[in-house]
Amino acid sequence: MGTIFNGFRYQDHMLCADGVSLREIAERHGTPTYVYVSKLMTEAYEELDRALEAIPHVICYAVKANSNLATLRTLSQVGCGADIVSGGELYRALEAEVPADKIVFSGVGKTKEEIDYALKKRILCFNIESEQELVAIDTVSKSLKKVANVCIRVNPDVDPKTHPYISTGLRDSKFGIPYRDAPGLVRQALRLKNVNLIGLGCHIGSQITQLSPFTDAIRRMMKLYDEALKLKSELTHFDVGGGLGIVYHKEKPPSLTAWANTLVRELKDRKLTLILEPGRSLVGNAGVLLTSVIYAKRGESNNFIIADAGMNDLLRPSLYGSYHAILPVHYRRYKKIKAAVVGPNCESGDVLTKTRRIQNFQSGDLLSIMSAGAYGSTMSSNYNSRPRAAEVLIRDGRFYVIRERESFEDLIAREKLPPFLKRAAAAQV
Ligand code: LLP
Repeated sequence: MGTIFNGFRYQDHMLCADGVSLREIAERHGTPTYVYVSKLMTEAYEELDRALEAIPHVICYAVKANSNLATLRTLSQVGCGADIVSGGELYRALEAEVPADKIVFSGVGKTKEEIDYALKKRILCFNIESEQELVAIDTVSKSLKKVANVCIRVNPDVDPKTHPYISTGLRDSKFGIPYRDAPGLVRQALRLKNVNLIGLGCHIGSQITQLSPFTDAIRRMMKLYDEALKLKSELTHFDVGGGLGIVYHKEKPPSLTAWANTLVRELKDRKLTLILEPGRSLVGNAGVLLTSVIYAKRGESNNFIIADAGMNDLLRPSLYGSYHAILPVHYRRYKKIKAAVVGPNCESGDVLTKTRRIQNFQSGDLLSIMSAGAYGSTMSSNYNSRPRAAEVLIRDGRFYVIRERESFEDLIAREKLPPFLKRAAAAQV
């Protein structure tokens, strides 16, 4: 009995990964729990790295996809760098021993404090997203008597043919420098003394399931690159961003090798180091969210399967209407019904799936929400005062807690009552 999900398969009717039964993890650590498979992440990284052999490259994993220290360390151990978008992500990456010279800093709103922090840690480069940011970086690096490496992130205005919420390379997006403004910004960067322009970059969107948007973007970017080379001959880097899609349902995304082959084909004749920022494609299919059915209820016009994981644990279905496959951990003959699988949060939008034809799951059944390794835990919250889920990593047939389930005490740990709200007894002390 195989599944479409590489690395997760049924053995003796039980869903397993790398020799570990997911039921055993749920029995030991409860639900909801995120489970990641170490070797699926490292295999993805190694496939991409191998396929890019023909050109100099740095793979900078997009930390926002899954920022657990163990995930970052798993990838950094095999040579992966990091793409960060905040001081917090920089802190995590450094704690996970990602070498600073493999860290690129993206994002539209880098604060002076974050710039200062990253300069002191000597990261590889800043991806500039506005003129004001360029000037801010120059100012901060001057105050530190440093020169900051920068790439200009341009918006190549290509359609990534993905969900509008996650397409970033279109003209009206908040990301990147408008294509026609790029030469002007290159000139400005060259005038500033405390920045060193090392290249150009782009990122056109996420969950892209075709290669043509990448080819289109690179060709447009290379026209600009050639223009920029006339102004500065020693540009060394081009950052293609991330965005390669994964399987959630029936998508047929190109493999990491096919993606790399396209990049190599387009860029091999140029003397540049390629930076890549893949997130989802390295970790998305390497993780699942385990959840238990609390109740099953028949509504007047719909059936509801109520799980112990909801939008605060996995926001994607509620926020984007995203599809995640839902598999029984213990495979048996179920009758199929039409039902929505919903979470316990008090919001109508709290769904893991809107109505779909699905097994007639019952209270106590254990479910595996597939393709939850990327943008799952990192987008989770404490909404409805629900403690965040545990996270577990499977490696070599064993499993390890890499984030403990939060407790009720954790929920209020940073809250404070001003004196006038303290309980009478406590106030007297
Ligand atoms: N680089 C930049 C500048 C980015 O903005 C992103 C993602 C990436 C790299 C990584 O993209 P990936 O390879 O993972 O597609 N929360 C959404 C996805 C948002 C992506 C934001 N930027 C989701 O759950 O689908």
